[in-house]
Amino acid sequence: MAENKNSGKMWSGRFRDPLDEAFEQWQRSLPFDWRLLGEECAASKAHAAMLAEAGILSTEELAQLRAALDAIATGHESAAVRENASAEDIHHFVELKLTEKLGPLGLKLHTGRSRNEQIATDLRLYVRRQIDAVAGGLLGWAAALVAKAEAAGDAVMPSYTHLQRAEPVLVAHWLLAYVEMLIRDAARLRDLRARMNFCPLGSGAVAGATLRLDRSIAAHELGFTAPTANSMDATSDRDFVLEYLQALTFIGLHSSRFAEEITLYATAEFGFIQLPEAFSTGSSAMPQKKNPDLTELVRAKVGRINAAAQAVAMQLKGLPLAYNKDLQETQEQTFAVDFVPSMLELLARFTAKLEWNTAQMRQAAQSGYLNAMAAATYLVHKGVPFRSAHEIIGKAVRLALDKGVELNALGLDELRGINENFDADFFSAISLDATLDCHDVPGGTARPRVKAAMKLAKERVAAMGKEAADAGAKGKIAGCNADL
Ligand code: ARG
Repeated sequence: MAENKNSGKMWSGRFRDPLDEAFEQWQRSLPFDWRLLGEECAASKAHAAMLAEAGILSTEELAQLRAALDAIATGHESAAVRENASAEDIHHFVELKLTEKLGPLGLKLHTGRSRNEQIATDLRLYVRRQIDAVAGGLLGWAAALVAKAEAAGDAVMPSYTHLQRAEPVLVAHWLLAYVEMLIRDAARLRDLRARMNFCPLGSGAVAGATLRLDRSIAAHELGFTAPTANSMDATSDRDFVLEYLQALTFIGLHSSRFAEEITLYATAEFGFIQLPEAFSTGSSAMPQKKNPDLTELVRAKVGRINAAAQAVAMQLKGLPLAYNKDLQETQEQTFAVDFVPSMLELLARFTAKLEWNTAQMRQAAQSGYLNAMAAATYLVHKGVPFRSAHEIIGKAVRLALDKGVELNALGLDELRGINENFDADFFSAISLDATLDCHDVPGGTARPRVKAAMKLAKERVAAMGKEAADAGAKGKIAGCNADL
């Protein structure tokens, strides 16, 4: 019999011809799935526990296998895993290392399981770990925004619609808008985590394990809520990857909106913000420059995240049940967003270091008739219908524009010339403080409302922290090497 050139692979028996060498390299996933070493070892330990319970492994064999898997998980530098030339994927790598250590006992581990359920499990563990890291990053940034909002006190700035000055708001109110976005982002991660936290182990290649395994053993050991309910779905489901990438797309979008505003407000034209030097760069050509590279890069990153989500959606489209090798392609998209937790950490530290030019912001909030809505509301309180009040204040603005002054510099007689409902109390009704405080509704920028919102935001961010910590603690798995 001719020597089988494929021996050493996990599937050589039925093959006569060797693999085309270029194809062999091209289809390998080890160059990227090396990141799953910790997850693969943890899932293998859980599988071994099920095998022992089913009587396939003795207690002694189980102990040997589990110890060897721990050693493999922690004993390899990532480069050594990545550059291993003989393994096809991370599952093969671990099997090779196991047999190096334990001989034939290493080969016993694959009893009653398939790589299809292994990768489905490893990827879920990986995404779950990343969700926890991203949630931690969101929390840190939300806390930094709340602290900054609190420190801003009664500082004011213009708000914009259509990027035209609209009404004055508290700087705190503006910052808390971002906290809302992050709280939603955290909730999305939480939902997704609960939805995906089921264990595929025991699903076999497609139809379920061929041994009567107690699947709850693995589910429990790996911190899953329960075993998955359908083997065909479990081995081919990557919805959790897509949902994860979509949830991160929102985070990317929110980060990019913040980044854009900071970039804009740090221009000489706005002059609202001093960029922290520690997070800015200079120009090799223009000596005077301090460039907002951090916010520019953050503004762009969502492109990658959304691209990964789009790629996975295309990869999943039209896939017949159950496992198909197409699914291997979803892995690199998953890993493409690994930068998100560290981006959020940077954003938190950057936010803490921002400095406001409060005088400039205040000045901007007081010029350009940002109190016109408050002025119209004044007339409403005098019994004028809003439509007419709008018209009257429009005329007052026109007059002020012609004179080159703000509304509060018009004389009472000039105002009365436009409408008889103006009184001396008009001027206090359109002061900056009154303009802020007339927005006295929940969610509005009146100073007492923002104070209350701040208190609430703090509590909600603290709750977010507690949830993230609880989930993270439940998701910690012995043997998973998070630092690889
Ligand atoms: N590297 C493969 C993947 O990521 C593992 C599963 C291989 N299964 C198979 N039937 N060839 O999808």
